[in-house]
Amino acid sequence: MYSIKLRNNTTFTASDNETIFEAAKKNNIHLEHSCLKARCSACKVKVVDGETEVIENDLILSNNERKEGYILSCNTKALSDVILDIEDLGNIELFESKIVPAKINAIDKLTDDVIQVELRLPPTVNFKFNPGQYINLIKGTTKRSYSIAEVRTDKTLVFYIKNYESGVMSKYWFNEAKPNDLLRMEGPLGTFFYRPKENIENIIFLGTGTGIAPINAILQNFDQNPQLIEGKNIIIYFGARFEKDLFWTNSFKNINIKFIPVLSKPCASWKGESGYIQDLLIKDQYNLVFSQVFACGSDQMIKSAKQLLIQHQLDEMNFYSDAFICSN
Ligand SMILES: Cc1cc2nc3c(=O)[nH]c(=O)nc-3n(C[C@H](O)[C@H](O)[C@H](O)COP(=O)(O)OP(=O)(O)OC[C@H]3O[C@@H](n4cnc5c(N)ncnc54)[C@H](O)[C@@H]3O)c2cc1C
Ligand code: FES
Repeated sequence: MYSIKLRNNTTFTASDNETIFEAAKKNNIHLEHSCLKARCSACKVKVVDGETEVIENDLILSNNERKEGYILSCNTKALSDVILDIEDLGNIELFESKIVPAKINAIDKLTDDVIQVELRLPPTVNFKFNPGQYINLIKGTTKRSYSIAEVRTDKTLVFYIKNYESGVMSKYWFNEAKPNDLLRMEGPLGTFFYRPKENIENIIFLGTGTGIAPINAILQNFDQNPQLIEGKNIIIYFGARFEKDLFWTNSFKNINIKFIPVLSKPCASWKGESGYIQDLLIKDQYNLVFSQVFACGSDQMIKSAKQLLIQHQLDEMNFYSDAFICSN
């Protein structure tokens, strides 16, 4: 058994036949993660000292990152005592993931290629999650991840689902799905949720397309518990290609939100902001030293935003993301 020590001195043991992430979990220590399949980089962490071994080759880390000592905790085992430059999630409660049945309540069209799906859980199921988390929906042998966008009652959950060309689940959602269809739901999953931190003035959200879904869930929680964000500025950049894709707008009444819709391919009559949301955020000159940024949507946006914002003084530890990586 080896000892794994984190930046905040939290220590746990790991053997050489489990990932560092699994070892932490076994010891009731929660580390940042999302896919747990070496595909999203949410669990990327720097090894300060010690020897580790990659379990399966990944396509996520660059050669430079590997040279600098970065690993994916979900795909790496310890071969000696190890010190990692990461903190655990502290006292945040993570609810146990489970598989439960779920039936479709309603399907509504939001744009030409985005629908809103409302699922209902059986009355006996007690499903708890941290707003911002996602679940896997299972239909036959197909399993896909979707972020919870809204809670209608504690037994009905809402999702925003995009039509991906030639996508297996997309074909189901956009051609076959109907009320009362029975699916299975696995979750809650991931660690994309709000964490209160001292000295933070701005809570900034970056969402592209259906990436606005978990952001909506976090905002719904703020709207129901405004004391959570008292004294802080809430800023949302919502990026889409065309004006017709802007299916989300701010309708929360109990909290002040600065909402900036941004089009990457605006038509001549568009009066709002255009370009990429991360560039707009830099242009707006918030003091990133005192900001937390939550980014969700395409992998390209997340990678580009992270690099750019860190160059502009954002503490890497204050950047949280959930990449909608594809299933294959
Ligand atoms: C943590 C997480 C949360 C997610 N939340 C949502 C959500 O709230 N709403 C939502 O609509 N989707 C979400 N996704 C994406 C979703 O899980 C599926 O990947 C997506 O719906 C496509 O599934 P499919 O079966 O239709 O396509 P697949 O059969 O998996 O793929 C078909 C084709 O589409 C391409 N493709 C698939 N997914 C993507 C992608 N994400 N980006 C670019 N190309 C892609 C593939 O390369 C392939 O060519 C999330 C993904 C993750 C990992
Ligand atoms: S790469 Fe490890 S959680 Fe996604």
